[in-house]
Amino acid sequence: MSIQLGDVAPDFTQDSTEGPVHFHQYLGDSWGVLFSHPADFTPVCTTELGAVARLKGEFARRNVKVLGLSVDPLDSHKRWARDIEETQGCALNFPLIADHDRKVSSLYGMIHPNANETMTVRSVFIVGPDKKVKLTLTYPASTGRNFDELLRVIDSLQLTAKHKVATPANWEQGGDCIIVPSVSNEDARKMFPEGWEEVKPYLRKVKQPG
Ligand code: BEZ
Repeated sequence: MSIQLGDVAPDFTQDSTEGPVHFHQYLGDSWGVLFSHPADFTPVCTTELGAVARLKGEFARRNVKVLGLSVDPLDSHKRWARDIEETQGCALNFPLIADHDRKVSSLYGMIHPNANETMTVRSVFIVGPDKKVKLTLTYPASTGRNFDELLRVIDSLQLTAKHKVATPANWEQGGDCIIVPSVSNEDARKMFPEGWEEVKPYLRKVKQPG
């Protein structure tokens, strides 16, 4: 059974470029992004790890800890980290898990045998401070991820965890939101005293709260 939204993210201990990681302990009260990539010394993965390293400040501002993973061993990760620093304008600044025995990739279903028997695909798991899975994504090896989109999703997850709103298509921080259908107009008047625009009774647009 694959990991589903709302499940507790399985805990694990595994080697990384920053020493052994005890996943739940590592997250503490933070949000987490655990993402896998197919292999060390591959071009798309190199750009992805550089992109995440350059966004360190953006993840920290949102109280998010990131963790990369591939099934290559630690000495390979360490050699590859030198290439990442040399070519991406930023050194690796988060732990990269060396899942040499596939313990974590098996636990999280990151190997999709119909895509590749041995390499992990590009999986993403966003975990909340309650250790529950808030988002999953799976990309094929040939398509690098958009990490600005992950930041956008985290903004939405953090906003909608606090307020009874949802975010519409292509929403970005500061954009109008939607009052969730389970909130009655009577309750909405208390929650959103400045009012809202009723496009349809089920589509109520409101300024971003907070
Ligand atoms: C890459 O990261 O460049 C890559 C990895 C595996 C297959 C294709 C591309």
